[in-house]
Amino acid sequence: MLLHVGVIGATGYTGYELLRLLHRHPQATLAWATSESAAGKRLCDLYPTPDHTPLIRMEDAALAQADVVFLCLPHVASMAAVAAVRAAGVAAIDLSADYRLPDATVYERWYGHAHTRPDLLAEAVYGLCEVNRSQIAGAGLIGNPGCYPTTVNLGLWPLARAGVLWPRVIVDAKSGVSGAGRELRLSSHFVEANENLSPYSIGYAHRHIAEMELILGPHVPGLQITFSPHLLPVSRGILSTLYIDIDPGLSETAVRDLYAAAYADEPFIHLLPPGQPATLRHTVGSNRCAIGLTPLPRPGQWIVTVSEDNLLKGASGQAVQNMNILFNLQETTGFI
Ligand SMILES: NC(=O)c1ccc[n+]([C@@H]2O[C@H](COP(=O)([O-])OP(=O)(O)OC[C@H]3O[C@@H](n4cnc5c(N)ncnc54)[C@H](OP(=O)(O)O)[C@@H]3O)[C@@H](O)[C@H]2O)c1
Repeated sequence: MLLHVGVIGATGYTGYELLRLLHRHPQATLAWATSESAAGKRLCDLYPTPDHTPLIRMEDAALAQADVVFLCLPHVASMAAVAAVRAAGVAAIDLSADYRLPDATVYERWYGHAHTRPDLLAEAVYGLCEVNRSQIAGAGLIGNPGCYPTTVNLGLWPLARAGVLWPRVIVDAKSGVSGAGRELRLSSHFVEANENLSPYSIGYAHRHIAEMELILGPHVPGLQITFSPHLLPVSRGILSTLYIDIDPGLSETAVRDLYAAAYADEPFIHLLPPGQPATLRHTVGSNRCAIGLTPLPRPGQWIVTVSEDNLLKGASGQAVQNMNILFNLQETTGFI
């Protein structure tokens, strides 16, 4: 099978990463790639790459000629673009937040915009591959997860689904600067970010909390997430350190067994051996999520460290993994 793939918003960091992945995917070929600001140029005019992919406007893209379309646009901009793809009868994988949350009022509360296509929310599947694989397989529309929530949800999923995670969860997370996208803004200027470490959106303020509550909430009554993201002066990578309480009756072996059972057949989950916390180097450049488990010398208290590459498992890599699931390809196709 050779899939014809369209990419909308190919000039941003996730779009560029996606093209890189698709070019080496043995069962995908690029049908077209769009840019509004750089239409008429080639990718190599914008990035230091030999990739001559021509960039066209979305209105000129033959939507129906694609088997699947990836959308790499900012939230809100993606709402109507996804609707156009679905109207053409083509599967959509949206990297923005617009189709991640099934409830339009929850979306509006966190994003401050009314959702213009709540009808499409009903068909959207949250594309956290390791958790929602069976729903992804038949989906027409996939809301690709956010970068931070992927670390938190995968880091805690084995405990949440077993019903042993206590409600108070503290997340201390650091992200490389590419997490903010390619658009220029003061906080990501070299001099502002370099040799600095800045918390931002702390105090139940960051939008990604909604995705953590979406996945963990149904399994953890009264879930209370304290999420403190930080801007780390590296290009890419996320490290989340999670401070949690669990059922104090569980032995260390029982906890490690829960993780081993949950992720036994997962090619992109790297469970680290005892004593080894996750670091950026475990995952940057790969589609893996690395998870380290450290017990505290107090019953039921643990520190879980989780790392990923924000542009791969946190965005475009997981999006390709979703495409592989959607079209019943081996999930690792295109990665190794
Ligand atoms: N960066 C990450 O680590 C990451 C991780 C997970 C999810 N995401 C999400 O993925 C999406 C893309 O992120 P990114 O980091 O690739 O962003 P980015 O680098 O800022 O790129 C976004 C692209 O969208 C296009 N665009 C911007 N405003 C637009 C508008 N109003 N209408 C149509 N097109 C517009 C631009 O391309 P043209 O000007 O060329 O058209 C731009 O290159 C976002 O929703 C983001 O939240 C990002």
